[in-house]
Amino acid sequence: MEVLLILAVTAAIFCLCKIRNWWNFNVNSTTKSSQIPLGSFGIFPFVGETIHFISSAYSDRPESFVDKRRHTYGKVFKSHLFGSPTIVSSDAEVSKIILQSDARTFIPSYPKSLMELMGKSSILVINGSLQRRIHGLIGSFFKSATLKSQITAEMESYVMESMGRWREDSPIYIQDEAKNIAFQVLVKALISLDPGIEMELLKKYFQEFIAGLMSIPLNFPGTQLYRSLQAKRKMVRIIDGIIQEKRGCNEGITKDVVDALLNDKNEQLTDELIAENMVDLMIPGEDSVPLLMTLAIKYLSDCPAALTQLTEENMKLKKLKEKLKEPFSWNDYVSSLPFTQTVITETLRMGNIITGVMRKAMKDVEIKGHLIPKGWCVFAYFRSVHLDDKLYNFPYQFNPWRWQDKEINYGNFTPFGGGQRLCPGLDLARLETSIFLHHFVTKFRWEAEDDSIVNFPTVRMKRRMPVWIKRRRYS
Ligand code: HEM
Repeated sequence: MEVLLILAVTAAIFCLCKIRNWWNFNVNSTTKSSQIPLGSFGIFPFVGETIHFISSAYSDRPESFVDKRRHTYGKVFKSHLFGSPTIVSSDAEVSKIILQSDARTFIPSYPKSLMELMGKSSILVINGSLQRRIHGLIGSFFKSATLKSQITAEMESYVMESMGRWREDSPIYIQDEAKNIAFQVLVKALISLDPGIEMELLKKYFQEFIAGLMSIPLNFPGTQLYRSLQAKRKMVRIIDGIIQEKRGCNEGITKDVVDALLNDKNEQLTDELIAENMVDLMIPGEDSVPLLMTLAIKYLSDCPAALTQLTEENMKLKKLKEKLKEPFSWNDYVSSLPFTQTVITETLRMGNIITGVMRKAMKDVEIKGHLIPKGWCVFAYFRSVHLDDKLYNFPYQFNPWRWQDKEINYGNFTPFGGGQRLCPGLDLARLETSIFLHHFVTKFRWEAEDDSIVNFPTVRMKRRMPVWIKRRRYS
């Protein structure tokens, strides 16, 4: 029996070695391996190092996968992730060049289920002139002065309405509340839909839709991907109804993002493409922005000195505005609350809501002496840069003061990406978070229950961030 076992184990090791040699030979033989960064493809073909990457991502130090290899091989190394040979960059300079390259060099590349759900015409996937056009239209819409004052007023009313309902005798789940508010604000900005039955329906379908973003890429009845695609179809139908109404009125006024796209004369901007993109654009409203708000509350709860300074700053502005009998403007939230802005910046650095971006090389690319072969993926991993102790003193300490009176070095700080795909919603994300923080700290004191941050597949709080609130007496 023992002999059989030894034979079986020896045979298994032999087979594994053979497969491994074949694997390394086949992947390396197509390129000049001396120029490809050092690294490993792992033992198993196709799986590569994906399991190591995911298990680190689930831990409380998700960057440990990259940090371990960066110490062994350097800041740029090769790996095999999500079915593709991949160059991982934790070098700010290399990542900057990747972000600034256009579609002749790199195109976006995401796991298969994500690509299927977003569809071929999503802004997150398309390239070239159409991507630049849509990016420009969305970006200028979010920068327009009318929109800024409209969004500020709407966000304030959603926040006040929501906070007005909060009770002191049961915990408030900050993550849920923030999601609800940020989703309503974004849907209003995208398609001018107010809270009501259609909004609730959209929210319901949207939950089904995003459940499939990191699912197994199998699309037939019964699978999550199938259900998510069905949900997206229903959302597209609702949005298409709104588009047809708008086309009927033909006012030519730009009240929301759909108007901005409809009023453009580009023939490639079909109704279907616009409706599908509206669904994709709801993702940050449900995910990134509410997480920014939630993490800010989490870090402030753990750092009383920062909370005191932020509260004083917000109280002062609130009293001044009351005295002047003036409403708050977009500018007040962004420019007159400098410490609040540093809290948001520090939350973005530590929170790493988007851990990095993935691209595929369209040709052999050389960056700083590293060769990225054609067809390989490249993963610009922001998290290790944001937590690098050579760039940030005590990087795991929440320290908003590190940003005071300092120009931000956007080479080392890329929570919103960069280059041609720099997030067009970054000002909106900061504004929404400022408004949320302002009303939260000026209306309530609170005690947070224990909770921890989960980083995979998306960043979120394990227990949805329960807090016990007490209303401040004067408000
Ligand atoms: C805390 C909040 C947010 C974070 C951390 C964030 C982060 C990012 C990052 C890192 C990218 C670059 C992706 C890449 O290079 O492939 C991006 C792109 C994008 N973001 Fe955001 N985002 C946030 C909020 C928003 C909001 C509120 C919107 C509004 C609709 C938005 C819309 C977009 C769009 C449309 C793109 C794609 C741009 C393109 O490829 O041309 N984001 N975002």
